Amino acid sequence: MAYETITSETQGAVTLITLNRPEALNALNSTVLGELQQAFAAFEADNSQHCAVVTGSGDKAFAAGADIKEMVDKQAADFFLEDFFAGWNDMTAKTRKPWIAAVNGFALGGGCELAMMADFIVASENARFGQPEIKLGVAPGMGGSQRLTRAVGKSKAMDLCLTGRMMDAEEAERAGLVSRIVPHDQLMDEAMKAAQAIAGMAPMAAMVNKELVDAAYETTLQQGMLHERRVFQILTATEDRKEGMAAFVEKREANWKGR
Ligand code: CAA
Repeated sequence: MAYETITSETQGAVTLITLNRPEALNALNSTVLGELQQAFAAFEADNSQHCAVVTGSGDKAFAAGADIKEMVDKQAADFFLEDFFAGWNDMTAKTRKPWIAAVNGFALGGGCELAMMADFIVASENARFGQPEIKLGVAPGMGGSQRLTRAVGKSKAMDLCLTGRMMDAEEAERAGLVSRIVPHDQLMDEAMKAAQAIAGMAPMAAMVNKELVDAAYETTLQQGMLHERRVFQILTATEDRKEGMAAFVEKREANWKGR
């Protein structure tokens, strides 16, 4: 599929989606959203694809935010009637397969929010994260105030949202926003290697692991534990559970059926 503002390609069982507006630091406009929605839907529907990586083109940015030039002349009623930004969360909420954000530079505003929608973030040592919307007279609109607070706690989320400052990859990793930092020139290798490893797992188990960790944000500990236990028990009915355990005992590689 040919896109205008992103690229999407498959490498084995991994879909690599690249935000491709380097001249605008990969700012996220409605064309990007429409194309990402198509790319995510294609990834989700393709039974040969088991994990995705999203990154930004160029050396400078993952995405420097929602496209300010697209927003500058809009009226409040337009934002409200279009339910502006709702599509981002809808798109990622519909994606049951795992995906990774490979953050190669600025991840600001909507860029930071898109990265936080991923199941985890692998960051280049050049990555910079922030929610600078306050400097534009607004506030985050794609989940920044909510997801950042859950990821790094109140104090740092307040600091970032209220001052609009950026944090570097080291600070982001210390704060728990980022799962690993890698040298800039190894970012894509490492992110793709992680994605290939995930894509090599039993597919339903990968989807269920994602669902369970996500559920931890939405529920109480006791309800979450019960949900986890029941899901574990149900997963034992799959062919892949029998294969996975038999392969361990027989000291061989598992041959997943995805059933
Ligand atoms: N929207 C539109 N265009 C953007 C952009 C954005 N968010 N960020 C950068 N660009 C464009 C610039 O306008 C510039 O284009 P021109 O050459 O045509 O002028 C080009 O990208 C390169 O940017 P700079 O010249 O500014 O590059 P720099 O290295 O000097 O600075 C930067 C980099 C610090 C990231 C700076 O570009 C910047 O501050 N960008 C805006 C960051 C921001 O405020 N993001 C939040 C947006 S609002 C939002 O995201 C709301 C939400 O919650 C979803």
